[in-house]
Amino acid sequence: MGRPLLLLCVLAVLTGAHLALAIPDEWKTMAPGKCEKMVLRREWRTLTSSEKAEWIKAVKCLANIRHPRLSLTHDQTVLNGEHSLYDDFSYAHAALDSTAHFTAYFLPWHRWFLYLFDTKLRTTCGYNGPTPYWDWSRDHADLFSSPIFDPDPEHGLGGTGDCDSFPQADCVVDTGAFAPTAPYGEFKLAWPIQHYLRRNLTLLTGWFPHERPQNSTIGPEFIKNATEHTTGDFFKFQWAMTQMHNHIHNLVEGDLAGDCPRDLPAEECTGMALSYTPNDPLFWLHHAQLDRLWSDWQVAPVENFDAFSGIPLNPANTSDPHYDVNVTASHMMEFDRLSVPVPVSMMFDHEAYPLCYHYAKEQ
Ligand SMILES: *[C@@H]1O[C@H](CO)[C@@H](O)[C@H](O)[C@H]1NC(C)=O
Ligand SMILES: *[C@@H]1O[C@H](CO)[C@@H](O)[C@H](O)[C@H]1NC(C)=O
Ligand SMILES: *[C@@H]1O[C@H](CO)[C@@H](O)[C@H](O)[C@H]1NC(C)=O
Ligand SMILES: *[C@@H]1O[C@H](CO)[C@@H](O)[C@H](O)[C@H]1NC(C)=O
Ligand SMILES: *[C@@H]1O[C@H](CO)[C@@H](O)[C@H](O)[C@H]1NC(C)=O
Repeated sequence: MGRPLLLLCVLAVLTGAHLALAIPDEWKTMAPGKCEKMVLRREWRTLTSSEKAEWIKAVKCLANIRHPRLSLTHDQTVLNGEHSLYDDFSYAHAALDSTAHFTAYFLPWHRWFLYLFDTKLRTTCGYNGPTPYWDWSRDHADLFSSPIFDPDPEHGLGGTGDCDSFPQADCVVDTGAFAPTAPYGEFKLAWPIQHYLRRNLTLLTGWFPHERPQNSTIGPEFIKNATEHTTGDFFKFQWAMTQMHNHIHNLVEGDLAGDCPRDLPAEECTGMALSYTPNDPLFWLHHAQLDRLWSDWQVAPVENFDAFSGIPLNPANTSDPHYDVNVTASHMMEFDRLSVPVPVSMMFDHEAYPLCYHYAKEQ
């Protein structure tokens, strides 16, 4: 089932989907350079049950606003009414996979991507609470018991899927608020074909030779080492971040690791089909944690703040010095239809306009 996509430099293409892009209305009304309000980001387990339920409801709200759109996948069909505003984010991620991963743009691209998602929850679905992140470093010793996998049908993100009755159940998550039977609306995903959320929590996937358990790079010591020994060196820092990133995707498996749904023919399970990882709402909490670690790194010491440099095309070889020496912070990053292109340099200060958020200092 599983595919080691997250360690491969796969992925062709970009779509040429640079359609007419509008400046969102909420930007026009704000003075440039000024935050009208700061959004707080907090660790998921510090949210109250009702705050968690509000976030989940907003996510499901986006998933239930359906609209037709032309699919740029294999058969160029129009997904009439089967495709939601939530799916747009998975689509953009898949379409831009090759620019957003294993390049210098990994962290800044995802910073803006998360901001766009968070803003959509607020402007379209009325969400008004904190932006959650999952500090998995607290859970490294026993990830499966993490409170992130709470089975509560209203405020829990759910646990592993039902893989015991595979292929009937196809590892569909049957606990928590994204289960097919949970209240407050369906959570059905359009890409790469219609299906429910899937997971298969595992420490050793068997996808790689000499694989280390998925929790080997996410504990506090690993983070401390990765952040303290990389001062001023964005290249080394983001290499460590990439390992943490991959390990959580692969730990959760299913949608978060790009496993294809059972009903998709194997020959179509390639390319973009492997990159719809935002299908799992855990994506947002996982990437917010990576963003938080970057944020912490940026100010300790302050010379890290706008450090920016490339990474090698072969991410498996950290000693390869031939990383892309030509990256610049003025590079305009693309976001499919979600946003106008924005420069990397706009991502450095998340407490300034237009990002306007900060992380709660938590124990
Ligand atoms: C990884 O998880 C296993 C099982 O929970 C645990 O025994 C092991 O100590 C963990 N390793 C790390 C580095 O946290
Ligand atoms: C679930 O993960 C385990 C461990 O990686 C694997 O052996 C099993 O085949 C997976 N099940 C499915 C249905 O993907
Ligand atoms: C600590 O971090 C440095 C720089 O990233 C790395 O070379 C080294 O292998 C790390 N050590 C451990 C024990 O993880
Ligand atoms: C890593 O890159 C360096 C420099 O290009 C090269 O000498 C070395 O053979 C590479 N190692 C592997 C395992 O590919
Ligand atoms: C960097 O840019 C120069 C000038 O455009 C070009 O000759 C060189 O090949 C580029 N290097 C890489 C690694 O892309």
